[in-house]
Amino acid sequence: MLKIDIQHANSFLDSNEYKNIAKGMNSIHQSVIDKTGRGAEFLGWHNLPSSITPEILEDIKQTAENIRKKAKFFVVIGIGGSYLGARAVIESLQNPFEAYQNSNNPKILYAGQNLSEDYLHDLLALLDNEDYALTVISKSGTTTEPAIAFRLLVKHLEAKYGAEEAASRIIAITDAEKGALRTLAEQKGYKTFIVPDDVGGRFSVLTPVGLLPIAVAGFNIDTLIDGAKFMENACSASSDENINPAIKYAITRNALLRNGYDIEILINFSPSLMYFTEWWKQLYGESEGKEHKGIFPAGANFTTDLHSMGQYIQDGRRQVFETLISVTGVKHSITIPENEQDLDGLNYLSGKSVDYVNQMAQKGTLKAHIDGGVPNIILEIDKINEENLGQMIYFFELACAYSGYTLDVNPFDQPGVEAYKKNMFELLGKK
Ligand code: PA5
Repeated sequence: MLKIDIQHANSFLDSNEYKNIAKGMNSIHQSVIDKTGRGAEFLGWHNLPSSITPEILEDIKQTAENIRKKAKFFVVIGIGGSYLGARAVIESLQNPFEAYQNSNNPKILYAGQNLSEDYLHDLLALLDNEDYALTVISKSGTTTEPAIAFRLLVKHLEAKYGAEEAASRIIAITDAEKGALRTLAEQKGYKTFIVPDDVGGRFSVLTPVGLLPIAVAGFNIDTLIDGAKFMENACSASSDENINPAIKYAITRNALLRNGYDIEILINFSPSLMYFTEWWKQLYGESEGKEHKGIFPAGANFTTDLHSMGQYIQDGRRQVFETLISVTGVKHSITIPENEQDLDGLNYLSGKSVDYVNQMAQKGTLKAHIDGGVPNIILEIDKINEENLGQMIYFFELACAYSGYTLDVNPFDQPGVEAYKKNMFELLGKK
C-alpha cells in the first residue's frame, strides 16, 4: 500500500497549527461521506471504485477490444479532466518508446487539448496514411478546443472510410442527456459512454473517460479499479490521520501553507510519471485555486530538473515544499559495465544497477533540500503498476477534497476557467 511519511515536513511547521487543522478533519471527513459540504453534488467519485458495475467495465473492455482489432492509432480528443487522467495512467505504464515499437497496442494520440493549427495539421497528415479510430470526450459537450478537433477529425475519418464505417470508429463519452455532443452522437449512431452527472472532469479518470483509452492502450482497468477500491476502503474507515493517509497528507500540506509554504512541487525520479504530475497539477490547481486561496501546484522530474529547477528549489525563495513520489522498485534490471580504461571514472559503480544510482540521487537530493529549507512529504510505492496508480489516484482525489474543505473553498467547481472563454468568444464574435 502507498505509504506516507511526513517526518521531513514536521520540523518546518508549527505543531499547534497541525493539531488545529487535524481537529477539523473528523467533520470534514464526515461531510465527504454524508455529502453535505460545498459542491456535494459532485462527490460521485467518492464511492466510484466500489460502485462501478461489472457491466460497465465489461462494456468498456469489449469496446476497447474492438478498437484494438481494427485500429493502429487511437486518437483521444479532450481537454483538462477529459484527457489528463487517461494520459497520466497510459504514460506511467507504457514503454516510453512505444511510438517506435512494433507492438499489438494501438498508438495513443491526443487532440483537442490545444488550439495549435500546426499540431492539428501534422496529426491529420499522419492519419492520412494510418488506420485509426477515435474517442471524443467532453462532459459538457460544448468545449471549443475538442469540438474543433472533433469536427476536423470526423471530416477526415468520413472522407477516409465513408460515413458508416467512420461512425463505427467513433466513441463519444459525454453527459447522459445534455450537450451538442450527445445530440450528434445520437443522430449519427456513435457508440457512447456516460460521464456521470455527479463526477467532475478532473475526478473522472475512473469512469469511461479514463478507462476506455487506458483499456485501448492495453492496460488492466480491473486492477486499476481494485487499487482505487483498496484506497477507498482504507480511507473510508477512519478520520484518524494514522489510519487514513489522505487525511495526513491534507493536514500536512495545509499546515505547511499556514507556515508560509505556498508552492508544492510534486517530484518524481521516474520520467514515466511526468503526466501523472500534469494530472495532479490540474486536480489541485483547479480545485483549490479560488477566492485568492490555495497552494500553487508545480511539478518537477528528477534528476532531469535538478539541472534546471534544482537551483531554485535548493537556493531560491523559501516558500516551496516538495511531495516526493518515491518508487522503490523497477521493472527491469541494467547494471553499469566495467571499463578497462575507466576514463570517465565510473568503475566505482561497475556492477551496480542504474536504479541504485537513482535511489542514491533521491536520498542525496532529499537531504540537500531538507538542509536547504525545503520541507518534504514522502509518498512511497513499490512499483509503477495499475494497482498502485489506482491507489494514488483515489488518495490524491480524496486528499484534494479534504484540502479544499480545509481552505473553505468549493473544490468541485472552476469558475475561473470561464474568464478566458468569455474574452475569446467576444473576440471571435460568437453569438
Ligand atoms: O476538471 C474539469 O472540470 C475541467 O478541466 C474539464 O474537464 C475541462 O474543462 C473539459 O470540459 P469538458 O469535458 O466539458 O469538455
